[in-house]
Amino acid sequence: MKFALSLVLLSVLAFNEAALLKGPSSRANLNHGYIQPGDRLLYRTYFQRAGIANAVQTQDLVYRGNLTTRISAVVAQEVGYTQYANAWVIAGGMGYNYTTVRVQTARGWGFYYLIDIWGR
Ligand SMILES: *[C@@H]1O[C@H](CO)[C@@H](O)[C@H](O)[C@H]1NC(C)=O
Ligand SMILES: *[C@@H]1O[C@H](CO)[C@@H](O)[C@H](O)[C@H]1NC(C)=O
Repeated sequence: MKFALSLVLLSVLAFNEAALLKGPSSRANLNHGYIQPGDRLLYRTYFQRAGIANAVQTQDLVYRGNLTTRISAVVAQEVGYTQYANAWVIAGGMGYNYTTVRVQTARGWGFYYLIDIWGR
């Protein structure tokens, strides 16, 4: 029983390692949801942070629409050379009137994203 459990834990760890050790050419852009015909660009921003030696930095971007806003897509694209950062939607997003995008840097690196929020 104990043995089986540690095997499961090991494979979870191995999976996470594989996710972290992506090739240097891989870009982690975010494509959440689908832009539909008739959608407008509700919000666009450049989201940027400089690297700090030996530190992993995390920063959230929060967008809030009004009562009738419906977000259809959240897109984050790295600007310029890749800095190996990652971006996710951690709250709201498609079908909601708000979204929180979380960006996490690679250790020692910064990030520079162009973030677009589509909807109506
Ligand atoms: C977003 O939608 C929720 C539920 O539909 C609503 O309660 C809330 O007031 C809306 N937010 C804003 C800022 O209007
Ligand atoms: C609410 O937000 C939408 C975009 O999602 C916009 O088109 C609309 O004009 C806004 N309504 C009000 C009352 O501000």
